[in-house]
Amino acid sequence: MFSHVAVLGAGQMGSGIAQVIAQKDISVQLVDLNEAALKKAQSKIKNSLEKLYKKKLITLTPDEVLQKIQFVSDINSIKQSELVIEAVPENQNLKSKVFKQISDTVSANTIIASNTSSISLTYLAENVSHPQRVAGLHFMNPVPLMTLVEIIRAEQTSDSVFEKLCQFTVFLDKTAVSSKDKPGFIVNRILMPMINEAVFALQESIASAEDIDKAMQLGCHHPMGPLALADLIGLDTCLSIMEVLEEGLGEKYKPCPLLKKYVAEGRLGKKTGKGFYTY
Ligand code: CAA
Repeated sequence: MFSHVAVLGAGQMGSGIAQVIAQKDISVQLVDLNEAALKKAQSKIKNSLEKLYKKKLITLTPDEVLQKIQFVSDINSIKQSELVIEAVPENQNLKSKVFKQISDTVSANTIIASNTSSISLTYLAENVSHPQRVAGLHFMNPVPLMTLVEIIRAEQTSDSVFEKLCQFTVFLDKTAVSSKDKPGFIVNRILMPMINEAVFALQESIASAEDIDKAMQLGCHHPMGPLALADLIGLDTCLSIMEVLEEGLGEKYKPCPLLKKYVAEGRLGKKTGKGFYTY
């Protein structure tokens, strides 16, 4: 298994991914240019670890896990990594740029994975040398609690890289499913249109946000309603995914204008304190 892993981007997905890897006693570097984001990630991880430890869901103590994570702002420090997982915001140009930087920094044997929710891995792989080492490794939010990982094969991905990522997922006590490199893969191809439809229902005043969510929780047994889930994921991420679906799959996936409006207003969900709900 890997002994040194780097995770790029200390947002909620990147910090969750670094946490679950460190929980398995693997050294992780969590990299972000923004020092404030690193500080925030550190305190979020500590919080999460304390909850998990209290419930006996992890064996290492929170301090032991935290010691496995190095919080760094310089990408040059990832040179020794055997696996790099990119988890920067869901933007194709940004991810392409970061992929190029990773490729210029690490050795030719390093596996390069992306936690992208929807962007083509085949496209991202074009930015690196030895593109057969690129694949998608898509964790679900909140990463410490959700057991699924989607593994996406780019057209270039080699069988051995795919196999290693499957084994790594199992090692992390998660379950892997394999998806073709098509917009939204499996989860977001199905989940995002549902969330988008819930926003249309709100926009058309069919019901209040509370009642839309209650209907889906009690009527369909979803653990949380679609609007609360959108707030958890981040409305900007939901919009970016819908745009990728629309571009790749057509008009049927058009993002709801209310979703666009909230994102333009900076109402991004839990992370900004306001989305469909106020936090
Ligand atoms: N670490 C540790 N513990 C956590 C945690 C974290 N990150 N987040 C929540 N918890 C704990 C809470 O503290 C709480 O503990 P107590 O019971 O001791 O208070 C417990 O988990 C349950 O949380 P809540 O009471 O707040 O709420 P809940 O029972 O509804 O569970 C949930 C929360 C697990 C998030 C659940 O609502 C759920 O499964 N929701 C759906 C999540 C989902 O669909 N995720 C996938 C999104 S799609 C995606 O991620 C892909 C993408 O690309 C966008």
